[in-house]
Amino acid sequence: MSNIGNKVVYQVYPKSFKDSNGDGIGDLQGIVEKLPYLSKLGIDYLWINPIFPSPQRDNGYDISDYCAIDPIFGNMRDFEELVAKAADLKIGIMMDMVFNHTSVAHEWFQKALAGDKKYQDYYLLRPKKADGSAPTNWRSKFGGSAWAAFGSGSLDYLHLYDVSQADLNWRNPAVILELEHVLKFWLAKGVKGFRFDVINVVGKDQQLIDDPNAGDGKEMYTDKAIVHNYLQKINQDVFTEHENILTVGELSSTTIENAIAYTKPNRHELSMAFSFHHLKVDYDNGNKWTKIPYDFRQLRQILQQWGEGLSDGDGWPAWFWNNHDQPRAINRFITDPKYHRLGAQMLAATIHLNRGTPYIYMGEEIGMTDPDFQSMKDYVDVESHNAYNALLAQGKTAEEAFAIIKSKSRDNARIPMQWNASNYGGFSTHQPWLANGNYNNINVEKDVKDPNGLFHFYQRLITLRKQESVIVKGDYQAVFNDVPEVIAFTRHYQNQTLLVINHFGEAATSLDLTDKILDGKILLANYPDAKITHHLVIRPYETLAIKY
Ligand code: NOJ
Ligand code: CA
Repeated sequence: MSNIGNKVVYQVYPKSFKDSNGDGIGDLQGIVEKLPYLSKLGIDYLWINPIFPSPQRDNGYDISDYCAIDPIFGNMRDFEELVAKAADLKIGIMMDMVFNHTSVAHEWFQKALAGDKKYQDYYLLRPKKADGSAPTNWRSKFGGSAWAAFGSGSLDYLHLYDVSQADLNWRNPAVILELEHVLKFWLAKGVKGFRFDVINVVGKDQQLIDDPNAGDGKEMYTDKAIVHNYLQKINQDVFTEHENILTVGELSSTTIENAIAYTKPNRHELSMAFSFHHLKVDYDNGNKWTKIPYDFRQLRQILQQWGEGLSDGDGWPAWFWNNHDQPRAINRFITDPKYHRLGAQMLAATIHLNRGTPYIYMGEEIGMTDPDFQSMKDYVDVESHNAYNALLAQGKTAEEAFAIIKSKSRDNARIPMQWNASNYGGFSTHQPWLANGNYNNINVEKDVKDPNGLFHFYQRLITLRKQESVIVKGDYQAVFNDVPEVIAFTRHYQNQTLLVINHFGEAATSLDLTDKILDGKILLANYPDAKITHHLVIRPYETLAIKY
């Protein structure tokens, strides 16, 4: 964990945070304008999704130049201003490094296409099979085959994501050198951290072969031992000269063992890692494009296994409920709007008092919800449209398919930030690139005024992390596993213990506390009249943290 354990990260989806020049797209000056707001919340790092030049096929995750700013967001001077003004407020900027693939519009890919052998070796080009079919049976994570024709010849290039995102060949040392150069470029600009997009799939085997289980190919390229070597090398080459650079890896379909290996301090790979298993508990049979209520027992089991596993193994998790790829957690886990505030607070406490680094996704701190879009025309995301068409092709009616998209689309999280109740929610003076949500009901101006609101609750959670070493350094142990709808854990450090009880349901439930806890002190509660009693009745969506 090193010395970043008391830090909190806030994620900004730059297209949707704040538009400063009235074109309907959020930008860097918009972020600069809102730095005092973020400072008031108390965050330490700001992760910004990709702001590099990009054809925007996958909203910036298709990068065509790693060392420049896309003009839709501003220019390098704006970026330098952002870094400097953020530093004045003790906020470090984190960049999103998409190193598994480049856009096909990137100069490297274009040179490769033009026949330059050096750059052809930057990508994963393979001959088609004798029958003209793709080199392997792997599936793209955005649907369809993971291979597409490379120019007009007999080769295909690998794209684990969109066809416009060509996978890089990390086995070529020149590629790693280029990527290290990118990291050094941004460090020289004063950047304090990096998020590494889908980092655990960058290490493919030399020989790319069919998935024998006729699966999607995932096992053939996920968490290969070589990824750990790559990360150690980059750490050694780039980060040893800099103090306290926060690195977080996005891990696709990983395991507890690997998450530990990527983040255990003495291995010198990453500071922390995101995993996603806890956000797949409303997938029917592992399939995202389904609509079912979430499985509470599964959620509890995953949080506990990962919590205990990483605690015992000295790994360090990055905890989050929301990001730019997920529908809002509040819509998934707290379905009755009556419990909007209590539920949001309980969810926040579950991760902010956990062992690991908490992440807040923009708007979460005021309880933003999924938008109530009425038609596919409102959705922009390439993945949503691909999925909708696939659902229709599988025989779903338009209505069924739409209901699924509505519950799972990544655009749910990507709608404009809700600053106030004025036009376009105060995000812009122009129709935003993606339609607004319910800014009349939920907005920053309103929530910040409410002492019992969400903003103040998040502020309190962040302050507690700064004050209480047990939150930062305590181990993690699951407790009260037999109490229905409750996820509870203790954190223990030196002679202090913190008990955190979170109720994921509406029906009153209860548990019995030991005498030792009765002398404890309530650190945090979302019901103002909470008391410590031997027989503790837990109310709907209650969260209670007791230190003893
Ligand atoms: C994960 C990112 O979070 C997502 O938005 C993106 O589409 C894929 N990686 C591909 O880069
Ligand atoms: Ca703009």
